[in-house]
Amino acid sequence: MMDNGVPNTVPGPAVVSPHPEAQENIRTLKRHGFSTRFVHWAVAVSAIILVLSGLGQLPLFHRYMVDELPYLGWTSDFNVTLAIHYSAAMLLTFAAIYHVLVHTLRREFTIVPRRGDFKESYLIIKAMLGSGEEPDSHKYLAEQRLAYAFIGANLALLLATGYIKVLKNLAGSDLPYEMLWTNTQLHNLATVLLILGVVGHLTAFAFKANRPLLPSIFHGQVDAEYARNRHCLWCEEIEDQ
Ligand code: HEM
Ligand code: HEM
Repeated sequence: MMDNGVPNTVPGPAVVSPHPEAQENIRTLKRHGFSTRFVHWAVAVSAIILVLSGLGQLPLFHRYMVDELPYLGWTSDFNVTLAIHYSAAMLLTFAAIYHVLVHTLRREFTIVPRRGDFKESYLIIKAMLGSGEEPDSHKYLAEQRLAYAFIGANLALLLATGYIKVLKNLAGSDLPYEMLWTNTQLHNLATVLLILGVVGHLTAFAFKANRPLLPSIFHGQVDAEYARNRHCLWCEEIEDQ
């Protein structure tokens, strides 16, 4: 989901300039380009809408009387929630295809999990809880690479099973009952796992050590000093380029 950040500055000591914009540049590094931020937010927005409209179809909002609240009657109208589900599915499909094509063509694979990521994640979490030294990191921490794979695999399963459900809804379709039953169980299981993955992803920012990454997903820049300390292997790669 992420690309190699092209540095707009070489990491080094902060230089005081009379121009505030120039100071801003010297103190930050470019971490995420447009493609990464577009994919992140297109996936995040579509996934949240898909979860809510999917739960509406179960129909949870009728069971828990959410549809009796003012202006929320439509939340248990199957035709409305299905139309919303299909619209968000189109956005997710576009973002997924764009992500795979663009980042494969640019050969940007820094977020793909590597051997030893489970052990490294354990050491990072242990260090964040105050015990031991944190290992040096590349652009992404080992636990971020694992989070990417986990969320990505569930989204891929949701896309595959979702399109089988679309086929089922087409006029004249005659798919076997057992296949549709298994498909629905997988669609629902991936929904639960995705919710857990996103909760875990957001919980990561409860740790102070991870918070400096937050601005980068909005405007692309990260504090250069933070990157030098925590992602020193990434900074070395940038300097070598
Ligand atoms: C359904 C909602 C979301 C999904 C599916 C999602 C998914 C992801 C994934 C797979 C990554 C890459 C792996 C990682 O860094 O852990 C990522 C990165 C990131 N996400 Fe999200 N995300 C969601 C919502 C959010 C929200 C609401 C925020 C905060 C406002 C956020 C902030 C970030 C940041 C800051 C990064 C980049 C970290 C870095 O620079 O290394 N995400 N997201
Ligand atoms: C983040 C991704 C997604 C989530 C969380 C999600 C969640 C859900 C949930 C909870 C349901 C209701 C239970 C069920 O019938 O299994 C549902 C139904 C459905 N979903 Fe998804 N879904 C996602 C993506 C997709 C995609 C990409 C498609 C394909 C276009 C899709 C198509 C459908 C269809 C056709 C139904 C059934 C409507 C019916 O009963 O006829 N979903 N989804």
